[in-house]
Formats: sequence, structure tokens, C-alpha cells
Amino acid sequence: MKRRIITTADGSKTIQIEDWNEQYHSTHGAIQEAYHVFIKNGLSLFKNQDLSILEIGFGTGLNSFITFLEADKYGLKIYYNGVEAFPVQKKELTQLDYSKALKADQFEQQFLKMHQIPWEAPHDITDNFCLLKQKMDFRDIAESEKYNLIYFDAFGSRVQPELWTEDIFRAMYNTLKINGVLVTYAAKGSVRRAMQTVGFTVERLPGPPGKREMLRAKKEE
Ligand SMILES: C[S@@+](CC[C@H](N)C(=O)[O-])C[C@H]1O[C@@H](n2cnc3c(N)ncnc32)[C@H](O)[C@@H]1O
Repeated sequence: MKRRIITTADGSKTIQIEDWNEQYHSTHGAIQEAYHVFIKNGLSLFKNQDLSILEIGFGTGLNSFITFLEADKYGLKIYYNGVEAFPVQKKELTQLDYSKALKADQFEQQFLKMHQIPWEAPHDITDNFCLLKQKMDFRDIAESEKYNLIYFDAFGSRVQPELWTEDIFRAMYNTLKINGVLVTYAAKGSVRRAMQTVGFTVERLPGPPGKREMLRAKKEE
């Protein structure tokens, strides 16, 4: 499918799939959205502990990189598993230029390392951040009670409805530890109901710029 790099409202860039009119991030601000959904409403709930995170859609590595940049602030030692079936191209990463957009040029090497490490084996990016990238379909995830936090960042249900089903959320529920949390930018009623049906307790939270709401789901005891 045809892809191009576009600039979003906060000045940061994202990838657009032209045939779908769908973006990797919000056109209202890619970096703002990532911080709001995944850091403010996800990562920041956890402090001073070892934390295992599953990302559904590693893509550009933006969420992985901002998690790495924020980990120290919350005293976290992170094990991060990014699942992705269709890795982004190197030239797209160069054009996105996230280190500069995040004013984190000094960590450019760590961002590049996240993309350069081989798939299917965990690698230390630093002492406090270990990354495993798995090239696979989300629908094949079958681990149980492994993660504290899930960043559910698939393309929207308008274009990939098969990734927002009860079956997928059941697998997400099973792969979370007790008290684990899933955050997503989505807010659709059908998505919320699918989460509730498989056992999650779901909160509707204010969304990032340009979006009224987002969802946070918890696996309670
Ligand atoms: C909305 S993008 C977000 C990517 C990433 N979180 C980021 O910040 O760049 C969704 C990602 O899911 C990937 N994807 C789509 N369908 C998939 C599937 N069935 N299994 C695994 N990855 C998939 C896409 O290639 C894309 O990278």
C-alpha cells in the first residue's frame, strides 16, 4: 500500500497509509497523542519497580522511545516487547526524525539501536531498558500473566476491525498480570463492550488533543 510521511498539528511527523486514509498516529499531534495515551494514562501509574510492557504495533518505535526517555523519572526498570508484523523502512525512520522532534538528540543512538537489534531476541538498550521485538501477527499472542502494561496501538477499527474483537481482548486479558492495565487511544462503544465482556474493568478518560475520550482497561483480582 502507498505510504507517505506527513506532519501533524504539533509539528511531529507520522506515516500515512494513503489507500486507507489512516495514520500511524493522530494528525492532531503524533507526539502529544503518544505522551497522553501511553505515558500519562499508562506508564505513570507504575513507580519504582520492574515493569513489563507489551506494545501492540511497534511500528515507528515512538512509544518505545518515549517510554525509554521517561523510565528514570518513574524509577522503572523496563522489559519491553514490541510486536509488529510489518516493520517500517529505514528511510521512513530517518524522515520521521523523532530524536530531534523530542529534543532527545543525545539519545539518537538508543533510538537507532531499538531499530537495529535483530528480531526475536531480547537486547539491552541500556541497563534499565531491555527490548524484545517480535515479528508476528497480534492474533497469535498466547502468553499468559506476563505483562503489567499493554499499549494497544493497532490501526483503527474502521480499517482493521478484526483487531478489535473479543478474541483479541481475551488474549490481551490473559497475557496481563493481575492489576495489569491496557491503554488505547480508541473510545468506541463496541470496543469498550468487547473489553468488558472478557473481564476488564474499563474507564473512559479524556482523550488526547482532537479526541474526546480514550479507554483504559484493568485486569482486577
Ligand atoms: C497505528 S500503527 C502504530 C504503530 C506504533 N505504535 C507507532 O507508534 O509507530 C499500527 C501498527 O500495527 C501494525 N500491524 C497491523 N496489523 C498487524 C497485525 N495483524 N499483527 C501485527 N502488527 C500489525 C502495523 O504495521 C503498524 O505498525
